Amino acid sequence: MTCNIAINGFFGRMGQSIFEASINHRDVRISVGCDVEEKISSTQNTKDLILTSQLQQQSDMFDVVIDFTLPESSIEVIKHCLVTNKPITIGTTGFTQEQKKFIKEASKKIPILIAPNMSQGVNTSLDSLASMAKSLRDYSVNIKEIHHVNKIDAPSGTAIKMAEVICKSRGIDLGDVKSEACPIKFESIRERTEIGTHEVIFKNKSDEIRLIHIAKDRSIFADGAIETAMWVKNQKAGLYTYNDYMVSK
Ligand SMILES: NC(=O)c1ccc[n+]([C@@H]2O[C@H](COP(=O)([O-])OP(=O)(O)OC[C@H]3O[C@@H](n4cnc5c(N)ncnc54)[C@H](O)[C@@H]3O)[C@@H](O)[C@H]2O)c1
Repeated sequence: MTCNIAINGFFGRMGQSIFEASINHRDVRISVGCDVEEKISSTQNTKDLILTSQLQQQSDMFDVVIDFTLPESSIEVIKHCLVTNKPITIGTTGFTQEQKKFIKEASKKIPILIAPNMSQGVNTSLDSLASMAKSLRDYSVNIKEIHHVNKIDAPSGTAIKMAEVICKSRGIDLGDVKSEACPIKFESIRERTEIGTHEVIFKNKSDEIRLIHIAKDRSIFADGAIETAMWVKNQKAGLYTYNDYMVSK
């Protein structure tokens, strides 16, 4: 059966990548594209795709939402999903603790998958990072991330996720990532063309081990967003990660 998807943030870099990638996924149709009113022109509507700035008004047209926008917009769209009982997969990053609490509460009523990185490559490497962090307990850890200049949050959601995995494996608290006291040091670089590079450096005085992930194309995130959307649509209410989707495959 075809899975009808609404993209929140349709005209963004990720929204457009997901729309393009959907052609390669069987049983998937992007039926609704939602973005801010200034970007919507009703003349762009076709019989297969409705463009809107009011997602809740089109709730009969989709089964699941993919959100790649801004934290405030993600919170608004979750509110619509609560009212219309729709599952949602969220790729947006940069949520505050309060917003994360709201998402957790909402997930008691609807299925929500949230992943600061939707690529199989990064998510697979998290297991290796956990094991390295444990074995190399005495090594300091630096995470360097490079993104395009329009990226708003820093350190990136992926860098924070990597740091959380490392700290969990060492049984310590990550704490405030912007604080001097943070056990992991971050470096955020913004360059014009970078899609996303993450480098984790384990270091002691005698050697250094580096794990690097280089995103060369946004399709890796777009495919992950579509696959997790199809998966979360069939889950019961709860808060899911990309890993929950991966282990269920
Ligand atoms: N999880 C991942 O794998 C992954 C990968 C890439 C980017 N991201 C994150 O996804 C988010 C979006 O990234 P991007 O590069 O596509 O950004 P972008 O700025 O290119 O696109 C965001 C889109 O959201 C739209 N938008 C803003 N407010 C809105 C609202 N209230 N309602 C509907 N649409 C609204 C904007 O108009 C824009 O078209 C960022 O938080 C980024 O860090 C995550």
